[in-house]
Amino acid sequence: ASLYIFILIINLFLPLVIHRCYLEDGASKGAWLNRSSIIFAGGDKWSVDPRVSIATANKREYSLQIQDVDVTDDGPYTCSVQTQHTPRTMQVHLTVQVSPKISRISTDIVVNEGSNVTLICLATGKPEPSISWRHISPSAKPFENGQYLDIYGITRDQAGEYECSAENEVSVPDVKKVKVTVNFAPTIQELKSSGGMLGGNGLIRCESAGVPAPVFEWYKGERKLINGKHGITIKNYSTRSLLTVTNVTEEHFGNYTCVAANKLGVTNASLPLNRK
Ligand SMILES: *[C@@H]1O[C@H](CO)[C@@H](O)[C@H](O)[C@H]1NC(C)=O
Ligand SMILES: *[C@@H]1O[C@H](CO)[C@@H](O)[C@H](O)[C@H]1NC(C)=O
Ligand SMILES: *[C@@H]1O[C@H](CO)[C@@H](O)[C@H](O)[C@H]1NC(C)=O
Ligand SMILES: *[C@@H]1O[C@H](CO)[C@@H](O)[C@H](O)[C@H]1NC(C)=O
Ligand SMILES: *[C@@H]1O[C@H](CO)[C@@H](O)[C@H](O)[C@H]1NC(C)=O
Ligand SMILES: *[C@@H]1O[C@H](CO)[C@@H](O)[C@H](O)[C@H]1NC(C)=O
Repeated sequence: ASLYIFILIINLFLPLVIHRCYLEDGASKGAWLNRSSIIFAGGDKWSVDPRVSIATANKREYSLQIQDVDVTDDGPYTCSVQTQHTPRTMQVHLTVQVSPKISRISTDIVVNEGSNVTLICLATGKPEPSISWRHISPSAKPFENGQYLDIYGITRDQAGEYECSAENEVSVPDVKKVKVTVNFAPTIQELKSSGGMLGGNGLIRCESAGVPAPVFEWYKGERKLINGKHGITIKNYSTRSLLTVTNVTEEHFGNYTCVAANKLGVTNASLPLNRK
């Protein structure tokens, strides 16, 4: 008995596999088995699978031919030759390998800070691919390998892109990304005033972090300020609002309040515009 190992990588696409086997002479009979089930006994086909056939290039050849090979065909095949003298068997092990492919990954999500998040990444391949996660951030620490990535009490620093990589020895890893947006209430990080000279300009800058991007409002004392009124211009950007006073007069001096709000909260900070 002899044993051959036949390794086939499906993705390299070789749809046809031939296991060679030869009869002793015209009088001997052959049979092919897939594990323990008979596919062919002599010229009789026992298998109902249309993909299998016997290749006979000459009288002695009794080779098994499989078309459109897939992973289920993985396993041992036996060619058994019956002769008058010594029965002979040959075993071939067909190993089918498949490169890794991510079949499912979580869709992009938006969560509030403090939530528990589970990301999922499923992959196919043979051998079974190993799955790893990486947070695309300069300070990110590695995670344990696995299909599920659990983040308990997610923080704003943990927002961003997460990359799933499915790897086996067959070919290059398959990589896919999911984006996690972490909402949090605004905080005012900086409120600064340039001060102002009578007849000159004054500027107050309010910086706020928050997701979604905060909406700004300004008050002077109790009064809400409106862009373009009383010599005041307000310009909003995603994380900051700029209040400009053109032609500062006596009544512009005093206490200004910047209010930053999003759907998770509202905050404010105040400071005076002083005479320079
Ligand atoms: C071999 O046997 C397996 C398991 O029964 C089956 O799924 C597969 O289709 C068979 N392949 C051939 C080529 O007979
Ligand atoms: C997050 O998970 C922890 C541990 O399982 C649990 O105690 C906590 O209540 C969860 N928090 C939320 C917001 O679901
Ligand atoms: C921008 O500033 C104006 C004041 O002119 C304010 O009413 C508006 O809500 C602000 N918009 C955003 C998106 O912050
Ligand atoms: C600045 O305001 C003062 C007082 O309202 C006014 O007299 C003056 O013309 C203004 N100057 C400019 C350049 O608008
Ligand atoms: C400015 O106004 C805010 C809100 O009205 C108040 O809390 C704060 O004490 C005031 N600051 C000054 C310096 O007047
Ligand atoms: C600023 O915040 C304080 C305390 O949360 C609140 O009492 C006050 O009304 C706020 N001011 C404005 C103008 O929103």
